[in-house]
Amino acid sequence: MTITFEVIHKDIGGRVGKVKVGSKTVRTPALLPVVNPHLPLITPREMQEMGVEALITNAYIFNRSTEFRDKALAEGLHAVLDFDGVIMTDSGSFQLSVYGEVEVSNEETLAFQQAIGSEIIVPLDIPTPPGTDRETARQELAVTLERMREGQALFPDANLAGPVQGGIYTDLRREAAAAVQDLGFTFCPIGAVVPLMESYRYKELVQVVLAAKSGLSPGTCVHLFGAGHPAMLALAVAMGCDFFDSAAYALFAREGRYITTHGTLKVDELAELPCACRVCRSHTAEELKRSPERERLLALHNLHVTLAEIARIRQAVQDGTLWELVDERCRSHPRLLAGYRELLRHAEELEPADRVSKRRFFYRGSESCRRTEVLRYHQTIPRISLGGRVLISFDGKEVPGFDTVLGFKPPFGPYPTGLAETFPVGQSEIPDWDEAMVRSGCAGIRSLMAGHPESWFAVRCGPAWAPVVAEEVPGAEVQREQV
Ligand code: GUN
Ligand code: ZN
Repeated sequence: MTITFEVIHKDIGGRVGKVKVGSKTVRTPALLPVVNPHLPLITPREMQEMGVEALITNAYIFNRSTEFRDKALAEGLHAVLDFDGVIMTDSGSFQLSVYGEVEVSNEETLAFQQAIGSEIIVPLDIPTPPGTDRETARQELAVTLERMREGQALFPDANLAGPVQGGIYTDLRREAAAAVQDLGFTFCPIGAVVPLMESYRYKELVQVVLAAKSGLSPGTCVHLFGAGHPAMLALAVAMGCDFFDSAAYALFAREGRYITTHGTLKVDELAELPCACRVCRSHTAEELKRSPERERLLALHNLHVTLAEIARIRQAVQDGTLWELVDERCRSHPRLLAGYRELLRHAEELEPADRVSKRRFFYRGSESCRRTEVLRYHQTIPRISLGGRVLISFDGKEVPGFDTVLGFKPPFGPYPTGLAETFPVGQSEIPDWDEAMVRSGCAGIRSLMAGHPESWFAVRCGPAWAPVVAEEVPGAEVQREQV
């Protein structure tokens, strides 16, 4: 296989990188617009001018239309679509999940995808829907894996994608991912998540994706099949997804829906077009609603917004501010917030991949206390060296009678003055202290104490925090600050 993935920047589980497919390069995270050859609202050439480096189209649709099939076989997909970026094709599995069966075999679709010049081809995997019982999910997964093996045996030189299925069962997802990895796949889509996203089951989405990720090697490029709403992309990138494909820009346009990063609006209810894209700046809301080109203009806006969000995410990964972006995006819907909180519950799994230094840490409420940077700080703080009598001073003032005096910065906790300017203590923007962050800082004191059973500890704080400290750090003496 000639798909290679180079990671350039990391943040949480997310990465900015380059995928090389043959001689072509796609920057990641990447959004592959779904192109329906029957109704191209936006032409692939226009997409390329908007910065699209790869797209996806459905081989099944090409195969079912005599006109398109013959043309694609004769001229190749790139000529038919007039696009010279990377073209990935899907097999017909999505139709399988919607209609129950398809008139194509695994071998046929793979041969056809190859014959029309697709650069990333997908076997006929079985997308197991969320309601499926465990035994059926296991059997379907076995079929999917067998079809991948068949694909490898029949087309050893193809750029074959290795879909990870397993339904809602996290152990199956993990097993599936490990099996796909063992087969040598370097490009792995995570499948059957569309029904979860359609019903806003983001908590389960996070569970399923993280389970799949746990079975994959960090060097594998991960595609989240059918995901592309800009409100959830930051969350998906934070989990370590690199490729997305979405028809949402076109499907929503058909229904008169205007995509924003914090949800979808009905264009008929808009008095203003709150967006910086070309369409929105050259039309009033009334003009857009009444335009004979309304569907196409909406699709253009929707795609612009989605691509801009991808750019914003790449910048955030580069700056180390992805947690802030995830936090902001996930507050737009309670079910997304549930997904974000689920991600935070997995901070221990995410921490090892996260980068060491970031541009800043903005505290945005109690969720921030469970971020990877706080966890890592609590894991490393016991390693600092201490004297016998240690004071942790909330207001930073030194008092005599101690061998070591440390400052205190919530939600991290105690810090030596030498670390006051370094990440995360130095680059963190903390508003007025609240109870959640002080409790989190106290957890930092506890881990410091656990690493230094030989030392004696006192914490000096104002009267407001004394009860919290006494409760959270029972082994330390609480001393009142003098006012
Ligand atoms: N598109 C959306 N979900 C899926 C999936 O699970 N498999 C395939 N092949 N395509 C999809
Ligand atoms: Zn716009």
